[in-house]
Amino acid sequence: MGQITLKSVTKSFGETQVIPPLDLDIQDGEFTVFVGPSGCGKSTLLRLIAGLEDITSGQITIDGKDATDIPPAKRGLAMVFQSYALYPHMSVRKNIAFPMRMAGIDPAEQDRRITQAAAALNLTDYLDRRPGQLSGGQRQRVAIGRAIVREPAAFLFDEPLSNLDAALRVGMRMEISELHKKLATTMIYVTHDQVEAMTMADKIVVLRAGYVEQVGSPLELYRSPRNTFVAGFIGSPKMNLIDGAEAGQHNAHTLGVRPEHIAVSETSGTWQGTVGVAEHLGSDTFFHVHETGLAETITVRAPGEVSFTTGDRIHMTPRPDQLHRFDDKGLRIA
Ligand SMILES: Nc1ncnc2c1ncn2[C@@H]1O[C@H](COP(=O)(O)OP(=O)(O)OP(=O)(O)O)[C@@H](O)[C@H]1O
Ligand SMILES: [Mg+2]
Repeated sequence: MGQITLKSVTKSFGETQVIPPLDLDIQDGEFTVFVGPSGCGKSTLLRLIAGLEDITSGQITIDGKDATDIPPAKRGLAMVFQSYALYPHMSVRKNIAFPMRMAGIDPAEQDRRITQAAAALNLTDYLDRRPGQLSGGQRQRVAIGRAIVREPAAFLFDEPLSNLDAALRVGMRMEISELHKKLATTMIYVTHDQVEAMTMADKIVVLRAGYVEQVGSPLELYRSPRNTFVAGFIGSPKMNLIDGAEAGQHNAHTLGVRPEHIAVSETSGTWQGTVGVAEHLGSDTFFHVHETGLAETITVRAPGEVSFTTGDRIHMTPRPDQLHRFDDKGLRIA
């Protein structure tokens, strides 16, 4: 079980309200990602759910029970932080066993859970090592192991991968996704990295200044962002947001078009401009195009290797079925 509901939950620190009334439903077994810029309230929200902070008003229920008076240790939730403090003088086995020892779990049961968690996390061969003899990714897996053995109703992850290098992050991302499939336990995962959000989530909650801007599956957010904030936040490179009138779209205040939905040509197109920076990634080429007559630089993502380079004239045509229109309040026009 791991169904979590927030009803009109608010949080203030002193006079400052950082979470305005917020409603959210997290289903049992769901992988939910909280994403948003620094300071938007992701960690605060997670800590409210964990019980590490008290809510100012509203209600949180876990599996239908009001959590208000349930202390963190009794909520059945396990939290994994960015800076996971492992005990340096203890073996991996002892580190993983620690919460079970504290809870007075029978030693045979401890061994069973350790064996199972180590297998799920590919740590079986490292159980007798100390944290100092492990890589960053392995250490992070030990921290997750320590959460798994508690057999929580839900896992709460606060940016658990941000201390790892890019390659390790991609590997760990997949391992956590696989772990979720294996355990089928509710996971709430906080990140400011929209790629992590897109690749891991069943459901993404986009936050800005404590407000929920949109909740949806990764592809719902990609295809139908509710406003210009979500449009600009989900997708990389960012969606181009162009003045509607300049783009000849007089019924829209802002026209949005993703870089991957613009075709390029040497000879003809809707817009033309001069290539500024060209980023050749091999798999894709990104162009940042100036002097288009539009106020904004246009970013284009072309598949594969495309030979335009800085200073070249380029013609661009947005795909008509992939245009996003927003009104003067930045809200999507259906
Ligand atoms: N204990 C506290 N006292 C006062 N203000 C706080 C406290 N904790 C957080 N805040 C404020 O609440 C807001 C949300 O902070 P929070 O840590 O939840 O953001 P975040 O989305 O996790 O950001 P980041 O991506 O940088 O970790 C921020 O403006 C922060 O300054
Ligand atoms: Mg945070």
